[in-house]
Amino acid sequence: MNKNDFPKDFLWGVATSAAQIEGAWNEDGKGLEIWDVFSRIPGKIANNDRPDVACDYYHKYPEQLELIKSLGFNCHRFSFSWARIMPEGAGRVNQKGLDYYRRMIDKMLELGITPNATLYHWDLPYELECRGGFLDRDIVKWFGDYAELMFETFKDEIPLWVTFNEPIATYVGYGLGVFAPGRKGEKFGRQANHNLLLAHGEGVRRFRKVFGEKKPFDLSHANIGIVVDVWHHHPARKDDPGDIRIAELENEKTYRSYMSPVFKGFYREPLLQFMRDTGSMPEIRPGDMESIAEPLDFFGLNCYNRVVDSSDPKAVKDEIEHRGGNFMDNGAEYYPKAIYDALANVRENFIGDLPVIITENGTYSAAEDAVTGPDGKPAIPDPMRVRYFEGFISWLKKAMDEGANVKGYTAWSILDNYEWTAGYTMHFGIARLEPDGSYIVKDSGKWFRDLLKSDNT
Ligand code: FCB
Repeated sequence: MNKNDFPKDFLWGVATSAAQIEGAWNEDGKGLEIWDVFSRIPGKIANNDRPDVACDYYHKYPEQLELIKSLGFNCHRFSFSWARIMPEGAGRVNQKGLDYYRRMIDKMLELGITPNATLYHWDLPYELECRGGFLDRDIVKWFGDYAELMFETFKDEIPLWVTFNEPIATYVGYGLGVFAPGRKGEKFGRQANHNLLLAHGEGVRRFRKVFGEKKPFDLSHANIGIVVDVWHHHPARKDDPGDIRIAELENEKTYRSYMSPVFKGFYREPLLQFMRDTGSMPEIRPGDMESIAEPLDFFGLNCYNRVVDSSDPKAVKDEIEHRGGNFMDNGAEYYPKAIYDALANVRENFIGDLPVIITENGTYSAAEDAVTGPDGKPAIPDPMRVRYFEGFISWLKKAMDEGANVKGYTAWSILDNYEWTAGYTMHFGIARLEPDGSYIVKDSGKWFRDLLKSDNT
């Protein structure tokens, strides 16, 4: 398999997000965002790790973009830090923040890398959280104003825009209390999600205001989408009503709770029933569902794995082994068909033939040892990650051969980075930044370099 097995104009990218890589948490006028604050509460994050420096991309973006280029990628998915641009989240604009993104995007364009920009990747300005955050319907206007500013500022440079990355993170932050901002209550989670979806719709309307009416997907102009992670839940025992019930409810509470309103314009009955039963029904005003379901230009699919559910943990293990599946070194199931299944699922149930970009795919390990490679240079063997990418990209190809309308693939991530509550303990990079400032390309990074070699015939 090599890149010639894919369409000529296929986008091959790596993904990152501002809070996970930029560092420079208090430089050049940046305001606080919720992870700056949350990570300072003892016990919330592994090792109490903080995103203060991360990969120092804020300063090192030129060399890190060169690294991306050197591996053969032609696309970079990144996110804007809202608090770097609007330190209070609303009102005042920090010109230095905009200047930084201008320099960074110019560098990307100079290298021939297509920018794929996400407006919101989990890092709400802390000042907005103090005003109620996603629980306040004003988030719709706050986000809309910020989004419009970004569309106007980078009108001519960015062909791919995403409103929100993985709305479920907001549920985890307001419903479960596990992510920033750390509020806990099913009703908070559901209300935050509903307001987020309204903000998404507003973002799309501002986009059309700036760029004009919807056109078919094409990189010669700006396109807008949303990113949802599909972790489809399967019952371990196909005929066990209990297992089926668990898996189905999870599917309703997770990806379907976003896909259905965004692409179909309604919440599905099982979710409504769950919200009624748990007293967590959000305030839904007349016209809300229409506002959420603004037509999009593409869908961003994040796919990492499937989930097998059962009331009996042994049944989960049996199902995985019985299906010829197995476990990776990190204990997760190796199930590369997840990407094929997810593409079929969204196509059939939600998006039809709308173009798709795989916006994230990857796997993690604990700390990896560097060894001396055959060329005498430091190397990091990561066979598990190589196998993972090989498997997922083969299944992606099969889906595309069978008609899936996929325009690009994006690996998570270029470097080991700040993995939210796991801090720096979960490693997703295909390369690593060393304490001395050098970079080691892992075997998985070399695997991509081979896949993407320009002289592949
Ligand atoms: C995704 C997130 C991304 C990163 C990867 C590992 O769910 O969008 O920020 O944490 O998982």
